[in-house]
Amino acid sequence: MSIAIQLNNVRKTYGKKVTAIQDLSLTIEEGSIYALLGPNGSGKSTTFRILTTLAAADQGEIYYFGSRKINKITIGCVAQNSGVDPTATGRENLMLQGRIYGLRGKELQERVNELLAHFHLQEAADRLSRHYSGGMRRKLDLAMGIIHRPRLLFLDEPTTGLDPESRAELWQMIKQLQSDAGMTVLLTTHYMEEADELANQIAFMNEGKIVAVGTPDEMKNKVGGDTITIQCRHSQAAAQVLAAAYDVQQHEQQNDNMLHVVTEHGAEKLPDIMRRLDEQSITVDSITVARPDLGDAYLLYTGKTLRKEGNS
Ligand SMILES: Nc1ncnc2c1ncn2[C@@H]1O[C@H](COP(=O)(O)OP(=O)(O)OP(=O)(O)O)[C@@H](O)[C@H]1O
Ligand SMILES: [Mg+2]
Repeated sequence: MSIAIQLNNVRKTYGKKVTAIQDLSLTIEEGSIYALLGPNGSGKSTTFRILTTLAAADQGEIYYFGSRKINKITIGCVAQNSGVDPTATGRENLMLQGRIYGLRGKELQERVNELLAHFHLQEAADRLSRHYSGGMRRKLDLAMGIIHRPRLLFLDEPTTGLDPESRAELWQMIKQLQSDAGMTVLLTTHYMEEADELANQIAFMNEGKIVAVGTPDEMKNKVGGDTITIQCRHSQAAAQVLAAAYDVQQHEQQNDNMLHVVTEHGAEKLPDIMRRLDEQSITVDSITVARPDLGDAYLLYTGKTLRKEGNS
């Protein structure tokens, strides 16, 4: 497997005080989808800007396909904020972007039509993009990002703010870019569902550092247990009961009514848990057991909660 991107000990500070990223090292295999997963301010966009050459690192080395030089034509990028010109139509946006990359005449027209079809934007092609929905604008952003068929595609928060249906559609399109066009994709996200669905490799980011790297399954297996979610009044009291009775690897009170606990053999323990809570007169509204998700894994490494889909 050849390496598309290699980052060694990269650091970026803003002014004297803010260290946006530090000691950042990562290896991205060619043809993979790689996700940087982390909450607001963890350094995802900074990493993105450095990799797309929009910002310079203060320290460290970056290799693209084994070289420290990168030809801009090799990379495509879709920034966190839309790059679509709202006063132009979808087609005009694409035509302009194509010209920037040196496409002309029939070749340009054909490429634009191909992209409009691929991203289901034909009908809206000649309407002002100001009137597009969020999902349509994001698809147009993506189409603009790949007009020149880059080998490396960078997506900063590709589906933030979209409804679940548009998000699923975009995920499908991103996967196709990997499978059909063989692109290497690096994306940033704070949605664990997005990283889980798309990524071959995930790096957890926290406070400007990478704290863990692995496949989605590897990350979840690290949690080593089941997650039990208990809905009850007085979740704090429930947390104490469970901590006293079992080897609880981590617990988190999402609010006063919700407790999230990781422990081995969760399902087997349920009857016993119910009995113990009952003994303390803690009334349980609901209790569920599930395999851990990436949010549980993130919590394990950082002690922090990732927002679930929908509550951004
Ligand atoms: N131009 C800048 N000037 C000063 N500080 C900055 C600048 N850009 C980013 N930072 C700081 O660097 C840190 C990392 O920011 P960054 O935008 O990389 O995070 P992020 O993970 O992309 O967050 P989000 O999920 O909100 O997009 C933050 O503390 C941020 O305030
Ligand atoms: Mg960002």
